[in-house]
Amino acid sequence: MSKKVLILPGDGIGPEITAQAVKVLNRLKEEGALDIEMQEGLVGGAAYDETGSPLPEETMAAAREADAILLGAVGGPQYDSLPRDKRPEKGLLGLRSGLELFANLRPAMLYPQLAHASSLKPEVVSGLDILIVRELTGGIYFGQPRGIRTLDNGEREGFNTYVYSESEIRRIAHVAFQAAQKRNNKVTSIDKSNVLEVTELWKEVVTEVAKEYPDVELEHMLVDNAAMQLVRWPKQFDVMLTGNMFGDILSDEASMLTGSIGMLPSASLNSENKGMYEPSHGSAPDIAGQDIANPLATILSAAMMLRYSLGAPELADRIEQAVSKVLDQGLRTADIWTEGTEKVSCSAMGDAVVAAL
Ligand code: IPM
Ligand code: MG
Repeated sequence: MSKKVLILPGDGIGPEITAQAVKVLNRLKEEGALDIEMQEGLVGGAAYDETGSPLPEETMAAAREADAILLGAVGGPQYDSLPRDKRPEKGLLGLRSGLELFANLRPAMLYPQLAHASSLKPEVVSGLDILIVRELTGGIYFGQPRGIRTLDNGEREGFNTYVYSESEIRRIAHVAFQAAQKRNNKVTSIDKSNVLEVTELWKEVVTEVAKEYPDVELEHMLVDNAAMQLVRWPKQFDVMLTGNMFGDILSDEASMLTGSIGMLPSASLNSENKGMYEPSHGSAPDIAGQDIANPLATILSAAMMLRYSLGAPELADRIEQAVSKVLDQGLRTADIWTEGTEKVSCSAMGDAVVAAL
């Protein structure tokens, strides 16, 4: 039976980059290599404009039905003054929490062809292959109470709650250790245990879980040090295990080691490996509609979708090899362009990947 894939282009560059990934998937379908049915839905600002909600019930229902979801990006300056529950980001966060996609996998891998596009020296980043395992449905992003209140003295005060239960920590820790077993057997767990109790518990629980994985080396690192180590000597890392907010920040940092945030795919999985796949970058409203965005992170996200949710790892390999091939051919979108390579548009990059399949 064919699998159902929900495509959610979203805002900004979302529609143009997802269109390239759809081209790649369609090519595999035409070949008979892939049996999927794709359906499009609304999310984020695009959904708000049409329906008044960033996550319409129809989208949520389609997301529940789907075997996997491919999302572009959400957000834009025109929505910044909306009440928080109408903002595009709420659509994304609602999908993550509504589907219990608690495990966010963000690989930061350097394609050797792009060593010179990184802002770090080639010898510091060459061979780089890090996996950030970020908890995605808890922590300060979702903790209650939260809000902005007015104190007795008339001053306003903003507040959020940074909270993790043992079970939330345990289940994401298992994901990290199991991922490390398939890689280089090392987990670096990120905390701020010198200041925050919640991450003191994080550290304790991760240490307990580690006992079930004697073949994996566990190291603990404070988040400020981790931010520094990522630009000092990133190759010391294999799997980085983080809470929601630390992972948000560190994954943007890690992505730049690879030359551009435009290269970084991601998977967000629930306990049954149902997943939502999206580039780690945002909606880039400043370049939206110009056909200059880098579609590779989205195309690589589609590859992750084939590997983790659609049971087609060999097709995932093919897409990844096709991406490597177009880089070998010297094709670059503006964000990864360097002297001596050929600058191509978003859609031309998508066509090149299809041709290289
Ligand atoms: C990300 C994004 C989101 C996040 C935003 C758009 C809500 O930055 O996926 O990293 O903070 O998780
Ligand atoms: Mg982010």
